[in-house]
Amino acid sequence: MSEGLFITFEGPDGSGKTTQIQRLKALLEERGIEAVLTREPGGTPIGEKIREIILDRENGEMDSLTEAFLYASSRAQHVAQVIKPALEAGKTVICDRFTDSSIVYQGYGRGLGDRVRVINQIAVQGLEPDVTFFLKLPPQTGKDRIKAEEQDRMELEKIEFHNEVFHGYEELERMEPERFIAVDAARSIDEVAGEIRLHMCRLLEKAESEMKTERQE
Ligand SMILES: Nc1ncnc2c1ncn2[C@@H]1O[C@H](COP(=O)(O)OP(=O)(O)OP(=O)(O)O)[C@@H](O)[C@H]1O
Ligand SMILES: [Mg+2]
Repeated sequence: MSEGLFITFEGPDGSGKTTQIQRLKALLEERGIEAVLTREPGGTPIGEKIREIILDRENGEMDSLTEAFLYASSRAQHVAQVIKPALEAGKTVICDRFTDSSIVYQGYGRGLGDRVRVINQIAVQGLEPDVTFFLKLPPQTGKDRIKAEEQDRMELEKIEFHNEVFHGYEELERMEPERFIAVDAARSIDEVAGEIRLHMCRLLEKAESEMKTERQE
């Protein structure tokens, strides 16, 4: 059974993930590929309820481990109910944030370290993205793009926390250069979209030639 491509987007708040996901969806549609768009935390009715608890500005007392488990719970539901079934049906899935966000926000930002990876390995049943676009932007620049009154509990964290998160992203970039593709997100929307387009075209060609080889065998 053919499996669809699983694409995720990562990066600081305001780095342009939502904007670029819309552009990528349009690009894929031009090529006759219908993409399922989804996001974390959330992506399912149960996940949306968990998202509200996580992002509620009144939940300032939340313990870091509680936060990590809530994200992982939301993700478990998301994988089981949405992502896995779509991929198994051969659809392409684009997800706004995935396990990498937990690794950097809770693992690096909150200092929970490798425990976050362990919790999430259980939650996702071994599922990993085929490719991840890391929209690389200094956290302060992203923050400046978002209006103060629109910032949620995570976004309200002080800049030191966001710098630690950014450092986590850079570590992922160093450790997994094949999957985790950094794109300079300080440029214009069109320039960023252009670079993502180049990477995607290369990936689609590779996937097509692999399928041809499989058919010939
Ligand atoms: N390359 C860019 N240059 C300048 N502004 C941008 C760029 N990309 C996006 N923006 C603007 O910055 C704001 C945040 O963009 P967007 O919502 O896509 O980011 P995001 O990563 O999804 O943020 P969040 O993590 O808060 O969901 C929007 O107002 C968007 O129009
Ligand atoms: Mg967004």
